[in-house]
Amino acid sequence: MKSLSLFALAAPAQAALRFGCSTLTIQRLDPIVEPGGLPSAHLHQIVGGNAFNATMDGDVGERGSCTTCTFSEDFSNYWTAVMFFKHANGTYKRVPIMQNTALPNGINGGMTVYYTQQDFNSNGNQKITAFKPGFRMTVGSPTTGSLSDAKGHIGLRFVCLQDKGTRFPELPDFPTKACKGGIMTVHHFPSCWDGKNLDSPDHQAHMYATTKEAFAAAGACPASHPVRMPQVAYETLWDTTQFDKLWPADGSNPFVLSYGDTKGYGTHADYLFGWKGDSLQRAMDDKCMFNACENGKPLKSQNVAAMNKCAVKTMVNENLDGWLHSMPGQKM
Ligand SMILES: *[C@@H]1O[C@H](CO)[C@@H](O)[C@H](O)[C@H]1NC(C)=O
Ligand SMILES: *[C@@H]1O[C@H](CO)[C@@H](O)[C@H](O)[C@H]1NC(C)=O
Repeated sequence: MKSLSLFALAAPAQAALRFGCSTLTIQRLDPIVEPGGLPSAHLHQIVGGNAFNATMDGDVGERGSCTTCTFSEDFSNYWTAVMFFKHANGTYKRVPIMQNTALPNGINGGMTVYYTQQDFNSNGNQKITAFKPGFRMTVGSPTTGSLSDAKGHIGLRFVCLQDKGTRFPELPDFPTKACKGGIMTVHHFPSCWDGKNLDSPDHQAHMYATTKEAFAAAGACPASHPVRMPQVAYETLWDTTQFDKLWPADGSNPFVLSYGDTKGYGTHADYLFGWKGDSLQRAMDDKCMFNACENGKPLKSQNVAAMNKCAVKTMVNENLDGWLHSMPGQKM
């Protein structure tokens, strides 16, 4: 009995966030890896706050005035590469993004973003420290060149969707046949911080991953990176169905990521923190789960129409639609 009541006194907070963000913009911009680059080397799809720009320094959470995410104090930016279909005749068409299941209807493309504590049901009875203003990180690397290296990137996966609810199996590379419900890309970020650096030269060394596959509980943080941060993850659903009948006769995968990756080994993602004030920390200290965190309990939220309305201006003027002779910025 004694231990039970002690446990009750020390009841851990168990907040976990899962929310939709509609597409903010699709442009060749990358304020983390190529700050100031107009354009950056390859195309990204970006969601989140409207302070998004070619260069982003300082406290983004204080600069945003709207966001494409459900939580209206989240001016963070979240982005990944873009998927294209390569036709046998050598031209490319951008694969549209569709909204995820279990989110409110009408979200324009975008991503599902997670901030979990350890897994879906527990924070592992530990303090979760929110990111600080200026914090940023990337996961994965576009130069990953082999299947074994891709397998080593735990949490960076592809799912061949039968419908929007399919979650397994998780693949380290592109599916090898047409997927009835589209393709989902999944990106889990590391959650152990060195406690000092908001960034690092490779945008990764200040973080350490103890991530397991899927949303399984992560391992303990090492002494070098002792501070447990939220476990950030993205799900992006690519609507490949219009290309089902155009699969090449030899069965080779016709999809390619915007930096010229036909295998998917180099799948990667970027995160730039921008929650206003202490809003993310208040959520992590709460007990709310998913949409129960909305409507001021404890986070301010907004409806889909407000999410879809938020935008940034076009800074890189290039055509992304129809059949293109090459992907933006790519020779192939
Ligand atoms: C983006 O950066 C440019 C150049 O520094 C600046 O003029 C512009 O106001 C910025 N836009 C936003 C939305 O912060
Ligand atoms: C390639 O195929 C697409 C789809 O059938 C077609 O619309 C486009 O005109 C073709 N382009 C070339 C250069 O053949």
